[in-house]
Amino acid sequence: MHIPEPTPADKFSFGLWTIGYQGRDPFGEPTRAPLDPVRSLEELAKLGAYGVNFHDDDLIPFGSDDAERQRIIDRFRQGLADTGLVVTTATTNLFTHPVFKDGGFTSNDRDVRRYALRKVMRNVDLAAELGAKVYVAWGGREGAEFGASKDLAAAFDRYQEAFNVLGEYVTDQGYDLRFAIEPKPNEPRGDILLPTVGHALAFIETLDRPELVGVNPEIGHEEMAGVNAAHGYAQALWQGKLYHIDLNGQNGPKFDQDLRFGAGNVRGAFWVVDTLLAGGYDGPVHFDYKPSRTEDDAGVWVSAAACMRNYLILREKAKAFRADPEVQEALRAARVDELARPTLAEGETWRELLAAELPDPQPLGERGMAFEHLDQLALEHLYGVRG
Ligand code: GCO
Ligand code: MN
Ligand code: MN
Repeated sequence: MHIPEPTPADKFSFGLWTIGYQGRDPFGEPTRAPLDPVRSLEELAKLGAYGVNFHDDDLIPFGSDDAERQRIIDRFRQGLADTGLVVTTATTNLFTHPVFKDGGFTSNDRDVRRYALRKVMRNVDLAAELGAKVYVAWGGREGAEFGASKDLAAAFDRYQEAFNVLGEYVTDQGYDLRFAIEPKPNEPRGDILLPTVGHALAFIETLDRPELVGVNPEIGHEEMAGVNAAHGYAQALWQGKLYHIDLNGQNGPKFDQDLRFGAGNVRGAFWVVDTLLAGGYDGPVHFDYKPSRTEDDAGVWVSAAACMRNYLILREKAKAFRADPEVQEALRAARVDELARPTLAEGETWRELLAAELPDPQPLGERGMAFEHLDQLALEHLYGVRG
C-alpha cells in the first residue's frame, strides 16, 4: 500500500503546546528545554504540516507587558509568513495559573470568572487577527472534587453565561470565529463539567447563539470516559457540530495519555478516521498529543511526523476497506444499507403501522446479522493482509 507524504492539503495542524511539551508531569521535572514557537513553525512546515493552534500563554508568557506581547506577536506573524503555516485555531489557558484552581468560567469566585472572561476575549482578538476560524474551549478546571463545593445548577448557569457573553462578543466585533467545546471526563479536576461529547452537545442547545458553538472531541478523552470515540464524532457530524477535532492516542480508561495519534487504541483510531471520511469532515486535522518525556528534541519531531503518517496510513486503509468488493458484499449481507431506509413508508403513520401485517418475529430473530465476517474483513485490512 502506498502511503502519501503529508502535504498542506491534508490540513494537518499541531498545538504549540504539543511539540512544545517539556515533559513535566505530576511526578517529574521537565526533560526537555523550552521550544521557540518560531522554530516549531519551521520544523512543522518542513514535515508537511498546514497549521498551528496555541493557548495565549503558549505564545505570550503569562504576565508579559503590552510591548513584549506585541514583539512576540510580530515575530510569530513573520514566522507564519516565512513558513506558510496558518493559524487554524486558538484557545485560552484557563488552567495553569493558581487563580484558576477552582475553574475559570465556573469558579465560585466571581472575580476569577470576570478575569477568565477577559483573558479569553483578549486572546479571541488575537485569534481573529491571525485568521483563526475556531476558538477551542477546554474547561479542564471547570469541575469539582467535593460534593458540596459546587452548586451545580449555578455552575451550569455561569458556564452558559460565559458562552453567551463570548457569543455576543464575537458577533459585536464582527469576527468570523466559532467556538468548539472540548469535553473531558476528569483530569486535572476529579470530575469535569461537560465530560463527554453528548453532555456538551446538550449544553450547547441552551445557549443564546447555539450556531456559534460546536464541539472539539478528543479521541483520548472519550476513551478515558469509556465511550466509543467514533460514535461521538459521528453524532457531532450528524448534528452539524463537529467544528474541530483533537486526534491522539489512549489505551483505555486511565490518566490522559495524549499518545501520538495511532499509537493508542488502533481499532478505535481506524473507525474515527473512517467516520471523518464518511461524514465529509473538512476542517483541520489537529493533533493534540504529548511527545513522551523519554524523548529528546529529535524524538519530538519523529513523533509529530508519526501522527501525520499514522493518519495517512489509516486514511488509506479506510478507503481500501470501503472500496473492497468483498466488503461491499459483506455490508449488504449485514443489511447496513437497509438502515438508511425510513422505518415508516412514504405517507404512512402510526395508524397504518398499527394495522399492518408484520413478519413473524421468530424467524426474524433467528436471522443472523453477518457482522463477524464484516468485522473480520476490517481487521484484515488493518492487519495489512488485504488491500
Ligand atoms: C488535554 C487537553 C488539552 C486541550 C488544550 C486546548 O490533554 O487535556 O487536550 O490539551 O486540548 O489545552 O485547550
Ligand atoms: Mn488529552
Ligand atoms: Mn485536546
